[in-house]
Amino acid sequence: MFYLKYRPKTVEQLDNSKVKETVSRILLSHSFPHALLLVGQKGTGKTSTARILAKAVNCLNNKWVQPSQSRTTSTTHIKVIKESYEPCNSCKNCLSVDNSSSPDVIELDAASNRGIEDIRNLIRDSSFYPMVSRFRVYIIDEAHMITKEAFNALLKILEEPPTSIIFILATTNQEKIPKTILSRCFLINFGKAKNSDILAMLKKIVDKEKIKISEPLLELIAKHSDYSFRDAAKFLEELTIQQKLTYEEGRKFLGLISDNFFEILQKGEIKEMLAWIHEFSESGGNVKHLIEQLLEELRLALLVQSGVKIAEEVGINFKIKEIIALMKLLTEAYSNLKISPIESLPLEIAVVEFYNQHKQKNIKLEKKN
Ligand SMILES: Nc1ncnc2c1ncn2[C@@H]1O[C@H](COP(=O)(O)OP(=O)(O)O)[C@@H](O)[C@H]1O
Ligand SMILES: [Mg+2]
Ligand SMILES: [Zn+2]
Repeated sequence: MFYLKYRPKTVEQLDNSKVKETVSRILLSHSFPHALLLVGQKGTGKTSTARILAKAVNCLNNKWVQPSQSRTTSTTHIKVIKESYEPCNSCKNCLSVDNSSSPDVIELDAASNRGIEDIRNLIRDSSFYPMVSRFRVYIIDEAHMITKEAFNALLKILEEPPTSIIFILATTNQEKIPKTILSRCFLINFGKAKNSDILAMLKKIVDKEKIKISEPLLELIAKHSDYSFRDAAKFLEELTIQQKLTYEEGRKFLGLISDNFFEILQKGEIKEMLAWIHEFSESGGNVKHLIEQLLEELRLALLVQSGVKIAEEVGINFKIKEIIALMKLLTEAYSNLKISPIESLPLEIAVVEFYNQHKQKNIKLEKKN
């Protein structure tokens, strides 16, 4: 899978320009924070970066001196002798991080029950020295799910951290991390992936895989991947497998031709609507992507109509009540896609139902205002 095959393995390979700069500054600074908090949306490179950091501090070809014995409260002193701070990705230590077999680099998922139990154990084990590396690195994903009790125990370690321990917490939800923990972590903000950065990543994959794809389609993928490197890589892979590599084919496959969907629905002509869906799926359109796109547009319309967002261009003239009804029906259709024998069926049911609901209540699908 592209998104795994092209997971960045060095700081240089991180296409997130801001993060790249922050990470190199940390690695060049000769003192490494005991705890880092990586905050950002899904698919922005938190896990990849955590692994790069874990490798960089433990790489056998990076001549870092041992963690100094003089303990400070927030950083541990290290010294880079070699010019490069990049992990080599070929020594025993680097490889063991990549295949999750390192006894010293431990990845936990705080979202699972198992994770919470693991955190208790790690807190108990944290006084042990690393076995084969310079540092024990604990990577805790979904850190906002850590229980209060486990956070308290973690805080105790962070208040007096052993020199050879590094915690890397990753979360999509910074507000749920206690302030006491936050204040002891070095924060790296991944935010949302920028379009231009996503485009750079896509171009690298296209070059390496020798894919012939239209440039505007690449830009379209970058724009519609929900600010996530992972989603963009997945879209590119789907389009490549399906050989939808021209702009029009790709746009249709990604369900990005929803423009006149709402217009037709608004007219209340059920026959025309069903014909549109039929034509859409017959010509290779992807219903899943279409529903995702429709829901995104409805959500935007809802936010604009309820005054949360201002003055964005919305091509939807439904009333809030209708928007909500549609969102419900489309969400249901979306979850039924997996069990439906015919791909377009759940969407067809949703529009017919929407039409019936509003017709029965005698609310004509008239335009707002
Ligand atoms: N900075 C980046 N540069 C290039 N590709 C990236 C970057 N960040 C993420 N990716 C792509 O997205 C995938 C998921 O990244 P990951 O680090 O697991 O994100 P997160 O942990 O934030 O959800 C990677 O395997 C890679 O394909
Ligand atoms: Mg992750
Ligand atoms: Zn190495």
